[in-house]
Amino acid sequence: MERMKENQSDFIMIRAMEDGVNVIGLTRGTDTRFHHSEKLDKGEVMIAQFTEHTSAMKVRGRAQIITSFGETESGKES
Ligand code: TRP
Repeated sequence: MERMKENQSDFIMIRAMEDGVNVIGLTRGTDTRFHHSEKLDKGEVMIAQFTEHTSAMKVRGRAQIITSFGETESGKES
């Protein structure tokens, strides 16, 4: 976890494709729960990092999500 201590952990980029997209941070550790929810409107971009407090992120709504291992879209109807 050296990279994390030095604040070098991964970022992801989320671009909202509709109003009211939620980016939710989930806690690291034994207890996995929501700790922060950020609301994005269409066109807004959030660049978020995994930290000692954040182990996972959940995206609710239509958004483009870009990570170091690929790109995907949430909220898309199939
Ligand atoms: N205080 C939070 C943390 O350091 C801020 C944060 C970082 C966050 N990444 C996030 C909040 C992703 C929501 C989603 O972990």
